[in-house]
Amino acid sequence: MRILLTGGTGYIGSHTAIALIDAGHEVTLFDNFSNSKPAVLDRLREITGVTMDFYEADVTDAAALDRVLNERAFDGAIHFAAPKAVGESIARPLHYYKNGVAGTVALLQAMERHDVRNVVYSSSATVYGMSDDLPLQEDAPTEVINPYGRTKLMCEEILADLHQSDPRWNVIALRYFNPVGAHPSGLIGEDPQGVPANLMPFLAQVAVGRRPSLHIFGDDYPTPDGTGVRDYIHVLDLAEGHVAAVEHLQQSPGFDVINLGTGNGVSVLELVAAFEQVAGVPIPTEVVGRRPGDGPASWADASKAARILGWTATRDLDEMVADVWRWQSHNPDGYPD
Ligand code: WQD
Repeated sequence: MRILLTGGTGYIGSHTAIALIDAGHEVTLFDNFSNSKPAVLDRLREITGVTMDFYEADVTDAAALDRVLNERAFDGAIHFAAPKAVGESIARPLHYYKNGVAGTVALLQAMERHDVRNVVYSSSATVYGMSDDLPLQEDAPTEVINPYGRTKLMCEEILADLHQSDPRWNVIALRYFNPVGAHPSGLIGEDPQGVPANLMPFLAQVAVGRRPSLHIFGDDYPTPDGTGVRDYIHVLDLAEGHVAAVEHLQQSPGFDVINLGTGNGVSVLELVAAFEQVAGVPIPTEVVGRRPGDGPASWADASKAARILGWTATRDLDEMVADVWRWQSHNPDGYPD
């Protein structure tokens, strides 16, 4: 199949591009480099040996979308392109609604104009809010507590309405838990611009000496060691889940929402210990106050993905940490400009 990847040079998009090539599919990347760098294209070519079609463009640009969809016959699209920082979304809601929601509508309208109606949507477990009914199942109540989470839930509902209005649309919304890790080559990985908001990239930057210490946001949660518990999933497992989803749409049309997680909860202290063990470097930490908006624990019930997609996560915490460390130690300052 030929698949259009919006946000294809981003962290999850680039790893999914490799998984699609490995599965024998063809890939077109579409990205505005707002949260990624051109160097990713060279790295992808080095890893896959394939020069993928690439369009530097914005997903809100209808003319650019028509240009791409005119040039190739696509079997579907995986829509990653959207801003994804919770804190930033609170400060800049219009940026999130413009690019996250209006961008999704622009893509869907362009796909409709070109009779391409299979879409896998990059959603997030953030739509579950701070539910403590764990493990989280897809029919758990949604509770969005920030603009970023609202853009994810709104786009899921837009896609559900679209499928309802025209059953020719086939949609799977994938709710990611906490993506971490990197391709084992060490050539691509997570490269957040500015100060990382997420734990693993911050930890990796402490390990390579870019940051003096890790602030642990609270150790007084009702969890085994008092620190926050999350369902960390290797980005390659996540990428393979997207391949399974886009292939599933070819055989089983419809609309569905599916968790991509491991089903295991890991605490901040457990992650720090794993990192120190694998990287062989001490990680200075300092416990500070809780971060507003954080809940104590979140992990997936991943059984629906196994049942519907025949997919389960296979990579464990040590592999996640070893792959992050290889990426970060080979690229201490991330991708070159
Ligand atoms: C994990 C744990 C923190 C940083 C967020 C988004 C979610 C998704 C994934 C996009 C928590 C603790 C963190 C630090 C810390 N993103 N922590 N020190 O908050 O579960 O999810 O990223 O889809 O939408 O909400 O991930 O990595 O930020 O935090 O102690 O410097 O690490 O308190 O317990 P989170 P995270």
